[in-house]
Amino acid sequence: MPGNDVSIHGEWSSRWAFVLAATGSAVGLGNIWKFPYITGENGGGAFVLVYLISIGLIGIPIMMAEVMLGRRGRLSPINTMRKLAKAGGHSRHWQWLGWAGVLTGFLILSYYSVIAGWALSYTVRAATGEFTGADAGTIKNIFTDFISSPLALLGWHTLFIVMTMVIVSRGVRGGLEKAVKLLMPALFILLVLLVGFAINTGAFSRGVEFLFYPDFARIGWNGILIAMGHAFFTLSLGMGSIMVYGSYLPKNISIAKTTFLIAGADTLVALMAGMVIFPIVFANDLQAGSGPGLIFQTLPIAFGHMWGGLFFGTLFFILLVFAAWTSAISLIEPAVAWLVENHNMTRRKASVVAGFVTWFVGIGTVLSFNLADNIRLFGKTFFDLLDYLTANILLPLGGLIMAIFATWVLSTKSSVSELELGEGLKYSLWFYLVKFVAPIAVLVVFLNVINVINL
Ligand code: PHE
Repeated sequence: MPGNDVSIHGEWSSRWAFVLAATGSAVGLGNIWKFPYITGENGGGAFVLVYLISIGLIGIPIMMAEVMLGRRGRLSPINTMRKLAKAGGHSRHWQWLGWAGVLTGFLILSYYSVIAGWALSYTVRAATGEFTGADAGTIKNIFTDFISSPLALLGWHTLFIVMTMVIVSRGVRGGLEKAVKLLMPALFILLVLLVGFAINTGAFSRGVEFLFYPDFARIGWNGILIAMGHAFFTLSLGMGSIMVYGSYLPKNISIAKTTFLIAGADTLVALMAGMVIFPIVFANDLQAGSGPGLIFQTLPIAFGHMWGGLFFGTLFFILLVFAAWTSAISLIEPAVAWLVENHNMTRRKASVVAGFVTWFVGIGTVLSFNLADNIRLFGKTFFDLLDYLTANILLPLGGLIMAIFATWVLSTKSSVSELELGEGLKYSLWFYLVKFVAPIAVLVVFLNVINVINL
C-alpha cells in the first residue's frame, strides 16, 4: 500500500530538514543569476508580475502535487510513478514521466554546473582584489576573457561537479541534510546585508520601480512563456527533484504548510536578488538586458568601488556558489536514487556515474561560450538551446503531466488523505487549480508561443 512505508534511502530527521533541503533545491542560480537577467531582458515589472502569478496559481499547487506523489511512492521518481500507476491499476507507461525527469535533470545540471563554475571563479577573483578600483571596461574584459577560455571554464565546471558528487554520495541524512542546514541560513543573512547595501546606492527606488512597475507593452507570449517556465525552474518543479525530496518526507508533516514556506522563501530570495542587482545596475549606468553575464559583468564594478567591496563581493559569490550547490544536489538525486534502487549500486558509485555523464554533457555548454559560439540552431547556441528547452518546455510539460496524474489518475481518496486539507474549500481550491487551471494555463501559453492559437 503506497504511502505507509519508509523510503529505503532514509528520511529527513524533521520537518525543518525537509523545508531547508527543498528550499536549498529551489533557491539557486535561478533566483540570483537567472531571475535578474531574464527580468532585465524581458522588460521588468510586467515579466515579474507574470512570474509571480505563475508561482501562485501554477507553481504552488503543482509543488504540493509533486511532494504528495513522492511521499506516496517513497521511491525514485521513476519507480514512484510506476508504483503509483500500478497500485491504481493504470498503465506502467507513467514511469516515462520519471525518465523524462532524470533526463531533464542531467541536461539542466550540465549547464548549471558551468555557470556555478563561473561563480566559483569569481569568488577567487573577488577575494584576491581583482575588481578593486576596476572600471566597467576592465570588468567586461575580465568576463569576456574568462568565458572565451574553454580550459578555464572546463576546470571550474569540473570542480563544481566534483563538489556536488561529494555531497550527493554521502546520502540523504549525512550529506544533503547537513549541507543545507548550514548553507541556507547563511544565505539569507548575506542577502539581507546586500539589500542594505543596495539601499545606499542612490538608485534603490529606480531599481524597485523597474522590478515592480508593470509595463505590458514590454512583454509578449514568448516573455510569458519564459516567466512561466521560470516559475517551474525556480521552484525545482516538473522533473522529480521535489518528488524525490518528498519521498524522504515523514508521514505526519503538512505538505501544504511546508510548500507555502518553501515557495515563499524562494520568491523572497529572487525579489531580494533583484532589489540588490537593479539598483546597482542603474546607479552605475549599466545595461539591465545584458544577458547571462549580467551579474558577472555588473556587480564586480559595484564591488570594485563600494566601501568594503572586497569583503562583500567575496561574500556574494560565496553565497551564489552555496545556493547553486544545494540546487545541484537535487538535480542529480532522482538519477542517483534510481541507480541505487535498480542497479544495486552504492550511493557513491551512483554519484560518480551520474556525475561523469553530467560533466561530459557540460562540455557542450563550455564550448558554446567560445569555440562553438557560432554553431547555432534556431539562432541559439548550445547553452541557450538547452536552457530554453529545459526551463521553458520540459519542466512545464513535466509539471503538466504530474498535475494530470495527481488529479485525473490518482484517486481523490489518495490525495485527500495525503494532503490532509480536509474535504472542504482548501482541498477543492488545490484540486481545481491542479486539475484545470494549471494544465490549461500551460497549454494556452505553449499554443500561443508556437502560434497555433491567438489569445
Ligand atoms: N530551482 C533551482 C534554481 O532556481 C534550479 C533547479 C531546477 C533545481 C530544477 C532542481 C530542479 O536555481
